[in-house]
Amino acid sequence: MASSSVSREEVERAAGLRRELEHHLYRYHVLDDPEIPDAEYDRLYDELVALEEVRPELRTADSPTQRVGAPPSERFSKVPHLTPMGSLEKVTSQEGLEKWVHDVRKRLASEEPLGYVTEPKIDGSAVSLVYEEGRFVRGATRGDGQRGEDVTANLRTIPAIPLALRAVEGSPPPALLEVRGEVYFPISAFNRLNERLLAAGSKLAPNPRNAAAGSLRQLDPGVTASRGLSIWVYGLGYREGVELETQWGVLEWLRERGFRTNPFAERHDSVEAVARVCAEWERRRIELDYEIDGIVIKVDLLAQQGRLGALHERPRWARAYKWAPMTAQTRLLKIHIRVGRTGNLNPWAQLEPVEVGGVTVKTATLHNEDDINRKDIREGDAVIVQRAGDVIPQVVGPVLPHAPKTEPFRMPERCPLCATPIVKPEGEVMHRCPNPRCESRGLETLINWVGAAMDIEGVGEQLVRRLWREGLVTSLPALYRLTPEQLAALEGYGEISAAKAIEAIRRSQERPFFRVLYGLSIPDVGWVTAQNLARHLGSIDGLMAAGQEEILEVEGIGPERAEAIVEWFSDEENRRLVEELRALGLRLEAGEAEQPVEGPLSGRAYAITGTLERFSRDEAAAALEARGAKVAAGVSGKTTALFAGESPGASKLAQAERAGVPILAEADLLELLRG
Ligand code: IVH
Repeated sequence: MASSSVSREEVERAAGLRRELEHHLYRYHVLDDPEIPDAEYDRLYDELVALEEVRPELRTADSPTQRVGAPPSERFSKVPHLTPMGSLEKVTSQEGLEKWVHDVRKRLASEEPLGYVTEPKIDGSAVSLVYEEGRFVRGATRGDGQRGEDVTANLRTIPAIPLALRAVEGSPPPALLEVRGEVYFPISAFNRLNERLLAAGSKLAPNPRNAAAGSLRQLDPGVTASRGLSIWVYGLGYREGVELETQWGVLEWLRERGFRTNPFAERHDSVEAVARVCAEWERRRIELDYEIDGIVIKVDLLAQQGRLGALHERPRWARAYKWAPMTAQTRLLKIHIRVGRTGNLNPWAQLEPVEVGGVTVKTATLHNEDDINRKDIREGDAVIVQRAGDVIPQVVGPVLPHAPKTEPFRMPERCPLCATPIVKPEGEVMHRCPNPRCESRGLETLINWVGAAMDIEGVGEQLVRRLWREGLVTSLPALYRLTPEQLAALEGYGEISAAKAIEAIRRSQERPFFRVLYGLSIPDVGWVTAQNLARHLGSIDGLMAAGQEEILEVEGIGPERAEAIVEWFSDEENRRLVEELRALGLRLEAGEAEQPVEGPLSGRAYAITGTLERFSRDEAAAALEARGAKVAAGVSGKTTALFAGESPGASKLAQAERAGVPILAEADLLELLRG
């Protein structure tokens, strides 16, 4: 037992630990720049917990140990906001934006200079944080704008929310202050939550916004704490004795006092620059680990804001430039199988058409049988569909447990096209049709050739399917023998568009060797392996002359893959194909395109496995290579890190573990590319 009176050392130690711990929380969660390892933080934290246990009188309300620990409540009480929490009028186009600026100009004196601040519009849950004499005393949801729910205990568990304002010399904390911000669910944490819900057989969270709002309204703060929420703070409500002139100044003021303000806020003096930002972030939003659904544009000068005022609690001095959401709910009508160009069986979902991110989505990928069954996706389910960038939409999972009568999904036992029995090699996730002459292979090879491999403008999947059906093009060389007249004879083609397409096909003969190699659809030779083979062996002749031994020396190629390559080239028909392509003048020798690029990631080597959410593996590899990194098809002791997406390959994970190579998530990859 402790002695009766608290010693001075104990008082000082407790205060010192509190200060240190809050400082490290700030470094980690606000600045994203920790100074000490997690284990060291935990050691300090445990010391404070132990000290407070022996000396409960040392436990202060703003002790970091008191962030979690409030007992679950029965319900939330309502609290009035000191100033109302309004909402934003939206615009959805550049014209809308210009019209708003025109309106603002009309209300202000015409020649007055006008500056703007743009901020990402965080798709989370709005909160108001009240600080008295610099201490966090109350936090509430927006509610009806006048009164919100008191979620103080839950907000205290969010480590990015300071329990006390940081001291700024010569500027004592205001007696009373309202800070406004958006609590959000990081996408990485959201995916982890859905993994957990899936494992528990519970209903999935449809999107990070709902999940953030739901987590904030948990009756048990312990649950909120476990969710990993964060906050971006963007403004002030009621304040006493805070003199500021601009929104930009408000953001700086908040940052200095320990709040997390978004690093992508910018200041502009023309509406054109604002429009550029809105367009830029619509493209770039997938890079972020949080969802944004638009850009908020604010008139920078607070005096001008005051003169513009608000209409029905919607400020005239701000607009939300909004984009369409990236997730939606719909019904999965049927699961189909597509046999890919190397024989893999790829399941895909036929959906009831739904708008996602401004595009009507009718189909989505389903990775493989294991993944479908792990998520328990069945025909007839209401499902959540997600789109990211230009990547094919994905089915995240069912909204509710499936209707009782539908059967779990099973891969067919025979190829749906050629009826050959399907195989599934040990340790792999994909089923495949082993028949090299399966009809699908030729067509899918052509589709991949005009798209990912050769990127032939104006010649896409639809056209290739038509040419295949008409019997005009049923092999790669036949594509190069197609005449403008044949194309112009197809319905919907005029002479000009036919000539253009033929010209684009002709130009594709100039594409680098590794693209040709990739386009041949040799099993397991993806974009990265094709590049490595081209670089290492120099030409198709070098590759054909190389034995298994020599191919094995190429980065990332194991015995099975080497054998498959040798086997492919030993097939008479494949050799004939190569010779025909040579005669047509395609490039079969490595050149400049195969040389590595110098950049910030030079000297590093990465590997990628599984399905990424935000881009295809080829796109990710290209982005890493453009920064100088090497991307290998396999993992070795030289690999810097392995990025693992959904349904990662078991052998790559095992190799990484054996070689002590760190296995990182897609979020880490995005961070690396951003940095
Ligand atoms: S300013 C008078 N700035 O968008 C309202 N709002 O309808 C002024 N939001 O849920 C709001 N990011 O919480 C502002 N950088 C940002 C924001 C932002 C997200 C949310 C806000 C509210 C909605 C506005």
